[in-house]
Amino acid sequence: MIRYGQQQAAQEAAEAGAGPDEHIAPAPRISIQAFCETVETASAIQAAGEDRRLDKAHLKMQMGGVTAALQAYQSSPTPNVILLEAEGSGDGILAGLDSLADVCDPGSRVIVIGHVNDVMLYRGLMRRGVSEYLVGPIGTIDIVRAICGLYSSPEAKPVGRIIAVTGAKGGVGASTVAHNIGWAIAHDLALDSVVTDLDLPYGTAGLDYNQDPPQGVADAVFSPDRIDANFVDRLLTKCTDHLSLLAAPATLDRVYDFSAEAFDSIFDSLRTTIPCVVLDVPHLWTGWSKRALIGADDLLIVAAPDLANLRNAKNLVDVLRAARPNDRRPYYCLNQLGVPKRPEIKPADFAKALDDEPLATIPFDPQMFGTAANNGQMIAEVAAGHRTTEIFRQLAQVLTGRTEVKKARSGLLTPILEKLRKRA
Ligand SMILES: Nc1ncnc2c1ncn2[C@@H]1O[C@H](COP(=O)(O)OP(=O)(O)OP(=O)(O)O)[C@@H](O)[C@H]1O
Ligand SMILES: [Mg+2]
Repeated sequence: MIRYGQQQAAQEAAEAGAGPDEHIAPAPRISIQAFCETVETASAIQAAGEDRRLDKAHLKMQMGGVTAALQAYQSSPTPNVILLEAEGSGDGILAGLDSLADVCDPGSRVIVIGHVNDVMLYRGLMRRGVSEYLVGPIGTIDIVRAICGLYSSPEAKPVGRIIAVTGAKGGVGASTVAHNIGWAIAHDLALDSVVTDLDLPYGTAGLDYNQDPPQGVADAVFSPDRIDANFVDRLLTKCTDHLSLLAAPATLDRVYDFSAEAFDSIFDSLRTTIPCVVLDVPHLWTGWSKRALIGADDLLIVAAPDLANLRNAKNLVDVLRAARPNDRRPYYCLNQLGVPKRPEIKPADFAKALDDEPLATIPFDPQMFGTAANNGQMIAEVAAGHRTTEIFRQLAQVLTGRTEVKKARSGLLTPILEKLRKRA
């Protein structure tokens, strides 16, 4: 939270968006009303209202600060959250809040945005039950963070991170990468994770983890009225200590046409109980697949080194960045590098076109990947000490926002983390 005395951090956060280790859980269906005094704050709040994490919330905004708020609540009930910008002196702000307390329902939370950096004011506000005091100038992500923070306790920090993995083209290894990352998150980082296979007709997660799962995700998506954490929990197949699978049916007895919101309640429900959800999003561009990507906390696009992949990866990055202006840009990695005799587009050219370094480059290794796929094993299980195993472990670390290496192996530098530092 940006509080009294943390203006520099506030400034940095405003410029950088959410930090790499930061996970801001989306806010529930709440009502928010903002009363601004300055155009800068108004535009930051307006942009916050369009942030994916406030998708479910209803935000109304008007100018006029505390005077307008007092007027509005004389006759109408107060919302879940009131955002109040207050220019002027500490005393004036506190007096305004005292008047507001007379008309404010006790259940409403108040976030004050002020321009005075004063510890006495801060204490006065906290005594009056103000949830948060933000010192301007504030950025969009500060507003998002403050509102969402009201509804998620710090102890619950890891719960509900969704990592979506998709391919820039079919067959580039997106599912393989997703499954290996999910496995590494569970095995190396010891975080409970669920791999959700969204390739309903053809998904391979069941095969890759050597499971013979029930319908999984299909049972959930075709029974929207029954979805809650318990129901979804029963559909999971346990693969290892920390890893479960929400499998695809991988049958063709019905067709799989879904509305854009069809998976929302499944994701919401997974978020409430599972620290880390890896979505294997097939190479599609439908309402629901686009929504799954936009709504994820972190994104990894897997691309093979050819021209179509380059074009598609760039299009994906552009559209996803535009839809998630307050998020870190989507990561991408290159897979299947070094197929004999195949001309390739170099990682440096990808980096230039996408204006970003790939997070990893994974060599083409048909022997190792083929063995893993046919045995229903992960790369780490068929080649524990292999460089590619290390890559999946590092990808798991970066995508879960962990920068500490649990089993540090100093011989293998951490090039992914190095790259991240360079991007910062
Ligand atoms: N680096 C690699 N080297 C060799 N083979 C690989 C590599 N990565 C993935 N493969 C193989 O490529 C094939 C396709 O992989 P996968 O099913 O993961 O791709 P996908 O992008 O999910 O495809 P789809 O578009 O069908 O969902 C699999 O047989 C997999 O074992
Ligand atoms: Mg796939």
